[in-house]
Amino acid sequence: MVHFEIVRGDITRFPAEAIVNAANRYLEHGGGVAYAIAKAAVGDVREYIRISKEAMQEQVGKDYVEHGEVVVTPAMRLEKDGIKYVIHTVGPYCGGVWDGDKKEKLRKAILGALRKADELGVKTIAFPAISAGIYGCPLEEVVKTFKEVVEKFSKEAKSVEKVYLVLYSEESYRKALEVLNG
Ligand code: APR
Repeated sequence: MVHFEIVRGDITRFPAEAIVNAANRYLEHGGGVAYAIAKAAVGDVREYIRISKEAMQEQVGKDYVEHGEVVVTPAMRLEKDGIKYVIHTVGPYCGGVWDGDKKEKLRKAILGALRKADELGVKTIAFPAISAGIYGCPLEEVVKTFKEVVEKFSKEAKSVEKVYLVLYSEESYRKALEVLNG
């Protein structure tokens, strides 16, 4: 059984073997957690965007990714905290509207990252609340979707043992815990 836990913290300092980035489809890390990861990994965000786009060409063979497609970049400076990989995945844009289509896209985004981590032989992986920031999806629905996807993934996991959902603010952490336990 894969262990799923909600924690409060900064994902750029979270000691998991892989951390996930809530990216956009062009891997332009302009804001939110994407910018924070790029900044922490190399300092020069433009350089991390260049590295990410190069990796996207190599791994996906395109200059954009669909929901469910992921790109892996090295952790670089983040390695000091034991992070080996950054897995970029793209959640849905909600703008406050939640429906079955958004949910399916989010499921794909989460599952794609989990499967990639398994393929990389990773035991611990940390996610931010994908789509719950700039993309405006309701945090409650995002947390519920994480719980469901991790449960489903549990049945196929070979390497991954622990999945962390890292919430940045105290308020979102509390809200997420309520959803998980309620
Ligand atoms: N650690 C953990 N979580 C963080 C951090 C951090 N250092 N910084 C921000 N967050 C949280 C936000 O508070 C939010 O709950 O990550 C969650 C996801 O927010 P966004 O980064 O805005 O991601 P998303 O809603 O998926 O929007 C993606 O934003 O940064 C751009 O390039 C990205 O265009 C894409 C869009």
